[in-house]
Amino acid sequence: MTETVTLKVDGKEYQLPLVTGTEGERAIDITRLRAETGLISLDPGYGNTGSCESAITYIDGEQGILRYRGIPIEQFEKNPNFIEVAWLLIFGKLPTQQEYDRFSEVLTNTANVDEAMKHNFQGFPRSAPPMAILSAMINALSCYHPEFQDVDDPDQLEAVAARLISKIRTIAAYAYRRSRGKPVIYPDPKLRYVPNFLHMMFSQPYDKYICDDVTQDAFNLLLILHADHEQNCSTSTVRMVGSSQANLFASCASGVSALWGPLHGGANVQVLKMLQTIHDGDMTPEEYVRRAKDKDSGERLMGFGHRVYKNFDPRATVLQRTAERLFKKMNKQDPLLDIARKLEEITLSDSYFVERNLYPNVDFYSGIILRAIGIPVNMFTVIFAIGRLPGWIAHWAEQNVSASPRIARPRQVYTGNPETRYVSLLDE
Ligand code: ACO
Repeated sequence: MTETVTLKVDGKEYQLPLVTGTEGERAIDITRLRAETGLISLDPGYGNTGSCESAITYIDGEQGILRYRGIPIEQFEKNPNFIEVAWLLIFGKLPTQQEYDRFSEVLTNTANVDEAMKHNFQGFPRSAPPMAILSAMINALSCYHPEFQDVDDPDQLEAVAARLISKIRTIAAYAYRRSRGKPVIYPDPKLRYVPNFLHMMFSQPYDKYICDDVTQDAFNLLLILHADHEQNCSTSTVRMVGSSQANLFASCASGVSALWGPLHGGANVQVLKMLQTIHDGDMTPEEYVRRAKDKDSGERLMGFGHRVYKNFDPRATVLQRTAERLFKKMNKQDPLLDIARKLEEITLSDSYFVERNLYPNVDFYSGIILRAIGIPVNMFTVIFAIGRLPGWIAHWAEQNVSASPRIARPRQVYTGNPETRYVSLLDE
């Protein structure tokens, strides 16, 4: 029997069904609320609203759990393979060797963007933010791939997903090269996903960048840990745009725009700025923490706290280990990593942070890792977008390919003028 909750309005009782997820989380199903009661729900910021049912990613913020298709993210740490995880997210199961090889082959063969698109890059000023170029170019892909305007079967989904996952890294690298005034470096079909991206970023026509195994693993892991986070702002945007049956390129381009904002994908840039400020001697770690606790200062300790994780962020724990491994292998000291460790140490024994459950989040370590690999700060959010792309595709497909989608169209509570007569104030 369906469990219900009772809603009492104007003396009348309504039974609203309860929905229970596979991990026991419960929700009140209000799909019939307006039809039966004339009422709508009001929840700005959607903090209490489930926008859909989804089988892709599970988060338990209280316990610090993040699982992709049921697999805890820590289990990807040993042999990190971003493409395998991308397949898992999009198609719901780990790929067989045959599926993996087939998908990888398409990734390799479609890594180039159409030559005509290179002119589009030239059209941007050198100072253009790479996120603006990335969003514009992903949208532009729909001009070059009209065959994927409608994706309604799994084979087509595989073909378009492979192209998009492959080309986003080429576009990202070209955007970077454009900003530096450097010639583009074509993808190398002999290289795997991550080394190929770093080759396009850092090789020179006369000097090829060689990616070592530790860097490759760290970068793969970084992409994996960003690959999905259920109904976050950019993913919800992709779903919203996709619900109008906009194509995958247009939907993911809107995801890039949502991710661009400093409250979403831009936070690791702020972390690095904070560590640099401390390093430049403008403030000690202790002073910075003191300011972050002072509400009047307007400052926060960047990279700490999370809307969902009220325990540790499991991605931060994995990334901390990754950063240590990377620095050990590089045999390199980064004073910013030492400052990050110091900040973590201070906050773990500070009652302000302990009482509010403020722990390092994923952004706290990702910037340090990207910096060690040589990625410039203005590319950090672009890398986040490359990582998040499989999640966007998975959600777009979950909504559009398998089910009969319904356009997303929230309602509102109107608070404007009552009916007002039109009396023009312009001169006759
Ligand atoms: N430094 C100092 N105090 C903080 C911090 C912080 N980083 N984060 C939260 N607090 C305090 C708040 O001032 C508040 O204190 P109060 O109860 O005395 O008023 C309390 O902790 C709860 O804060 P909220 O703003 O309600 O927490 P919320 O869950 O809404 O915010 C957020 C989460 C936005 C991430 C916040 O912790 C923050 O601003 N962190 C720094 C920015 C950051 O790292 N963002 C990246 C998030 S991860 C991602 O997007 C991939």
